[in-house]
Amino acid sequence: MQSIISSENAHVAAEISVRNLSKVYKDNTGDVTAIDNLNLQIKAGEFLSILGPSGCGKSSLLNILAGFEAPTTGSVTLNDEPIKGPSRLQGVVFQDTSALFPWLNIHDNVGFGLKNTKLSIHHKEEKIKAALALVGLQDFALKWPHQLSGGMRQLVSIARVLVTDSRILLMDEPFAALDAMTRLQMQQKLIEIWNATKITILLITHSVDEAIFLGNRVLVFSKRPARVAVEIPVNLAHPRKVTDPEFNRLKSISLSHLGF
Ligand SMILES: Nc1ncnc2c1ncn2[C@@H]1O[C@H](COP(=O)(O)OP(=O)(O)O)[C@@H](O)[C@H]1O
Ligand SMILES: [Mg+2]
Repeated sequence: MQSIISSENAHVAAEISVRNLSKVYKDNTGDVTAIDNLNLQIKAGEFLSILGPSGCGKSSLLNILAGFEAPTTGSVTLNDEPIKGPSRLQGVVFQDTSALFPWLNIHDNVGFGLKNTKLSIHHKEEKIKAALALVGLQDFALKWPHQLSGGMRQLVSIARVLVTDSRILLMDEPFAALDAMTRLQMQQKLIEIWNATKITILLITHSVDEAIFLGNRVLVFSKRPARVAVEIPVNLAHPRKVTDPEFNRLKSISLSHLGF
């Protein structure tokens, strides 16, 4: 792995640690090695962007971190505990803007994650209200998913993670299905949410601009099987400008490792 700037803050405890991770799928055509001996750490409160070619193993990694899939070999830990399955500590937002329950209004969609908790109704209501306010949808609680734009539905998905006090937001191409303008608005909103909550964010994206615009660190993955081709710290204050020379320098590095 090549690092363009030596990694600092090494003393900060890693929230997620991936060690010697491999993932091999077996299907009727044989073995597919999606991830081979991958090592990475995601620090508490970090906003990590991951870029990589299609099919290189990004979603496989995210699904393992979410606890939906098990590693073939190696270990993944969350606060030093092995990830054994989905938990309230880590929440996921996918690309699909229809991920909400169509039969529940926005309030109930957000509150769904609290269903099996022992919180009082009053406490649940406070949490739902706070989560909706964090994503700026406090006035949409009684609307239905089909009445919201694709961008707003993604914000509801984020609120559904925040309401359970998750510490890590795992996002797999969350804005890929949105139009360009909405996508820019969502990116700004996501930075606001990150600043307000200090939640750790892992964002998988195909957009080099998006990765650098949002992340405090960008990892570019190699072709399958996924390995870290380059690690790029982004030391630019928000709001970032795509016209900034340093932004463009980081973009060139990312693109060259993606083969462009
Ligand atoms: N459940 C599965 N069974 C078999 N092969 C899979 C499965 N999931 C993913 N793969 C394969 O693993 C590789 C990596 O997939 P994925 O992690 O989805 O890539 P990415 O998200 O980077 O596009 C691909 O070759 C894909 O076809
Ligand atoms: Mg994917």
